[in-house]
Amino acid sequence: MKRTVATGLAIAAGVALTAVASNTSQIKAQEAPFGDPDSIGYAETLWRVMEEARLVGDDTIKVRPFEGSDPHGTVQEVLATTATIAGHTGRLVVKRNHASDSIDAVYDDPIGNLDAITIMFKREEGYDPENQNWFWAKYLPDGELDQNEAGMHLAGRVAKGMDSGCIACHTATGGEDLEVLTLN
Ligand code: HEC
Repeated sequence: MKRTVATGLAIAAGVALTAVASNTSQIKAQEAPFGDPDSIGYAETLWRVMEEARLVGDDTIKVRPFEGSDPHGTVQEVLATTATIAGHTGRLVVKRNHASDSIDAVYDDPIGNLDAITIMFKREEGYDPENQNWFWAKYLPDGELDQNEAGMHLAGRVAKGMDSGCIACHTATGGEDLEVLTLN
């Protein structure tokens, strides 16, 4: 919609085609479903909020690990809570993904075998109505965002519209709200 208006105006005003092209790519960048600067910034803020709440970091709250499977690790921990980002409060589900064959080892040392932290945060109405307004992110243990093979940061509406990835798999396995395991 925005793109059509911009192109129409540019043609009406006789603006050179290059201007139209750069305008279009800017709009595309803003509309990228994930890995765009806004999503990355949002994920960074969220990491700090999670660190303060001891959901991630060196001093995490201990929860009982359990046996899991791909893609979220052989041992997992999961916590469901709420968080507030930029004045919006939403449900936050944090899954810590471990590569370990021992639940006890992960309980004793929740950092040592940590592979990744995957989260779902319920954003404001209208953020992604087709997918229950979830914000998705995958962090490495130090809080850096993980990237896909194309080098895109995994934050935002991750892999929206694609055949595989967070949204596709959670749509297939997660039921109406895309949450696979129902936690209180
Ligand atoms: C191939 C399927 C698949 C993909 C891809 C996937 N997940 Fe999951 N996810 C699951 C399953 C299954 C569970 C339930 C626990 C388990 O069995 O691992 C789950 C659980 C979760 C949970 C805990 C809440 C819940 O739904 O139970 C979070 C948070 C999560 N995934 C985030 C992500 C993020 C972020 C991505 C993308 C970076 C992602 N997932 C990609 C299958 C997937």
